[in-house]
Amino acid sequence: MPGTIGTGFPGVFISLEGCDGSGKSTQMARLSRRLESLGLSPVITREPGGTPFGERIRQLLLDPDSPDRSILSETLLYAAARCEFVSKIVRPALAEGRIVITERYADSTWVYQGYAGGVPLSTIETLNAIATGGLEPDLTLVLDIGEERVVNERLATKRKDKIERRSGEYHQKVREGYRQLARRYPHRVAYVDGGLDVHSVEAIIWQEVVNILSKKGYDLTDEKRGRESL
Ligand code: TMP
Repeated sequence: MPGTIGTGFPGVFISLEGCDGSGKSTQMARLSRRLESLGLSPVITREPGGTPFGERIRQLLLDPDSPDRSILSETLLYAAARCEFVSKIVRPALAEGRIVITERYADSTWVYQGYAGGVPLSTIETLNAIATGGLEPDLTLVLDIGEERVVNERLATKRKDKIERRSGEYHQKVREGYRQLARRYPHRVAYVDGGLDVHSVEAIIWQEVVNILSKKGYDLTDEKRGRESL
């Protein structure tokens, strides 16, 4: 049976982080398929968003035509969306023993509005603690993609949102911020080289996920038991 170490819930909470264009969505889909093939049914979600209220905030924050705002107002909006997200999506699912995988979570605010945006990190940490009620992921996978060139190439094919339109300098700070984050929270952050080929990245992520699921009491060698544990 799954245990309750970490978040205090029987479920497992995993976040996937990284700068824009680092391949998170592709890896989310692959990870989800792997878990489903074992008979597990993870809750796949994202921030900002996940709830109807959060999706409206997402639109306001990311629409390239939305009005400019101060970095602090922006921080508070992310926190408001997160508060709703945690209480309506994450906590109920973890309490039911589900595996929750979110593309972005509180660490994105730490990096984008704090480290890169200049809001003091102590303020971000306080706000995150209020919005999440102190709920931290069991595992945070940070996809790093070292070369700006590659990120820009990946983003070139899409219409950039409000945040992606920020300067190269800002995005460089975001990349640095993720490296700092890994140093700040080494107990839960796994840094993954997103510049490797897609299969290698998938395999590294899978190993990290297997480790955390095993620690939480899932037996992935036994598909049936995995299914029964949910
Ligand atoms: P994405 O879903 O395509 O990654 O877009 C979300 C954007 O929002 C991305 O540029 C990162 C940004 N973001 C923040 O700036 N702060 C946050 O707290 C979160 C969750 C996202």
